[in-house]
Amino acid sequence: MTILTTSRLRLEPFADEHLADMNAMNSDPEVMRYLSGKPETLDETRAIIDRVKARWIEIGYSWWALIDRDSGRFVGAGCLQNLRREATPLPDPDCPLEIGWRLRRDAQGRGLATEAATAIVDFAFDVRAADELLAVCDPDNTASASVMARLGMQPLGLQHWYGKDLTTYRIDAARWRANAAARQQD
Ligand SMILES: CC(C)(COP(=O)(O)OP(=O)(O)OC[C@H]1O[C@@H](n2cnc3c(N)ncnc32)[C@H](O)[C@@H]1OP(=O)(O)O)[C@@H](O)C(=O)NCCC(=O)NCCS
Repeated sequence: MTILTTSRLRLEPFADEHLADMNAMNSDPEVMRYLSGKPETLDETRAIIDRVKARWIEIGYSWWALIDRDSGRFVGAGCLQNLRREATPLPDPDCPLEIGWRLRRDAQGRGLATEAATAIVDFAFDVRAADELLAVCDPDNTASASVMARLGMQPLGLQHWYGKDLTTYRIDAARWRANAAARQQD
């Protein structure tokens, strides 16, 4: 299981110790507005953590808890996972990889989702040797689409994932590396 670090965050694979903080975030209706649309129960969060722990062992990537390095506080979650075409809980290994993010309400507006996602994209391209990554969100979720744009991803319009039409962005390894090289020259 892979721990990633950024200047402000430590990304820890989901573990039982994240249960209370995860559930506090996922039971906030504002956070869940464009996700399931309803607060998550403690049992639901526990089941998700169990699924994610199995996924890490099985395939070597999944969801991380985002921990503020200074305070040790849980601030959100980020993922690398396979997209699903249908609204079923089973991942489809033939589907492309997606990156995703979610922050506690009081951790938003500080650049933490983009910072975490940058480390996850580096991991996907450099360690997992992925060719391309997608990101999807509800068409009304402009905050999430802005993270995709800030990462340098390209909009593909609406595509059908998770049984819904979702705003979809894409980036490949060559573009990611070219963008990183350009930033270093600035
Ligand atoms: C989607 C979500 C993670 C985006 O969070 P966010 O905080 O807006 O995104 P970032 O972490 O990239 O932060 C960018 C914002 O921080 C600001 N910021 C402040 N300090 C910053 C810093 N040091 N570095 C970078 N940006 C900073 C940026 O200006 C930007 O604000 P703006 O959008 O008003 O211009 C958040 O809205 C969320 O958790 N939503 C609920 C869950 C959800 O819908 N998840 C996505 C499902 S697809």
